[in-house]
Amino acid sequence: MELRNQTDVSKFFLLGLTTDPEMQPLIYNMFLFMYLVIILGNLLIILAVSSDSHLHTPMYYFLANLSFTDIGLSTTVIPKMLVNIQVHGKSITFAGCLTQVCTLLVFAGFENFLLAIMAYDRYVAICFPLRYTVIINPRLCGLLIILSLFSSIMEALLHSLMLLKLSFCKNLEIPHFFCELTQVLKLACSNTLINNILLYFINGLFSAIPLFGIIFSYVKIVSSILKMPSAGKYKAFSTCGSHLSVVFLFYGTGFGVYISSSFSHSSSKIAVASVMYSVVPQMMNPFIYSLRNRDMKVSLRKIIGRIPSF
Ligand SMILES: *[C@@H]1O[C@H](CO)[C@@H](O)[C@H](O)[C@H]1NC(C)=O
Repeated sequence: MELRNQTDVSKFFLLGLTTDPEMQPLIYNMFLFMYLVIILGNLLIILAVSSDSHLHTPMYYFLANLSFTDIGLSTTVIPKMLVNIQVHGKSITFAGCLTQVCTLLVFAGFENFLLAIMAYDRYVAICFPLRYTVIINPRLCGLLIILSLFSSIMEALLHSLMLLKLSFCKNLEIPHFFCELTQVLKLACSNTLINNILLYFINGLFSAIPLFGIIFSYVKIVSSILKMPSAGKYKAFSTCGSHLSVVFLFYGTGFGVYISSSFSHSSSKIAVASVMYSVVPQMMNPFIYSLRNRDMKVSLRKIIGRIPSF
C-alpha cells in the first residue's frame, strides 16, 4: 500500500518566493546576479589559494574548502529556481526534491564543521603560536576535513532515507524556492514523528557541537588577546576578524530566520527570509576574506593582472 502511494508521487511544486507574475523578472535577475557573484567570487578564492604558494597554509586551505561549500550550496538551490522561472513552471520531480534535500544537508553540515575547524585553527594560532605548525599539521587538517565531510554525508543520507519511507498524498506544494527538509516533512501524509525527532535531535547535535567549539575557541582567543601588549592586539584580532564576521553572518542569519519563522506563520515570508541564510552568506564570504586580508588581496591582484585585458 505504502509502496503504491510512493510511486504515485512524481512531482512536487515549488511555489517560489512569490506567485506574483510581475515580480518574476526582478527575482530572476536578482538571483542570477547573486549566483554569478557567488560563483565568481568563490572560484577566485579557490584559484588564489591553489596558485599562490604564500597561501599554502591550513587557514587558506580551509577557506578554499569553505568557498567550495558555498558554491555547492548555491548550485543546489539557485539554478533550479532560475530554470523554473524561465519556463514558467513550478514542478520538481520527487527525485530532484530528494536530491536537493540531501545535498543541502551535506553542504550545510560541512559548512558548520568547517567554521568550527577554522575557529580552532585561529585558537591554536593565537594561543599557541610557537606550536602552531606542529599542532595544525597537514595530517590533522586532512583528517578533520574528511571526518566532517563523512559525518555530514551520513547525516544527510539518514534524513533522506527516512524521507523515502514516507508516503505523500495530494497537494504537494512547497511554499519555498527549494526543497527543504522541514517543508517536505510537512507534506507527508504518513506519521512523521520519528522524522521530526531525528530532525531536531541530530540537527540540534550537529549544530550545537560546532557552535560550542566556536564559542569555546573565541572565549580563549579573546582572553588571550586581552593579555597581550597593545601592539600585538590589533594583528591578532585582524587575523580572526574575517572568520568572526563569517560566523556571525552564517549563524546570525540562520538564527534570525529560525526566530522569525517561529513567530510568523506566513510561509511566503519565511521563504523570503530564508534567502538571508541560503544565499547572502555565500555571496559575502569571498568579500569578507579578500577585502580584509592583505595576503589574499595581493594574490587576487596577481591573478587578475594575469587576465589579458581587451
Ligand atoms: C580542503 O582542505 C584540505 C585539507 O587541508 C586540502 O588538502 C584541500 O585542498 C582543500 N580543498 C580545496 C577545494 O581547497
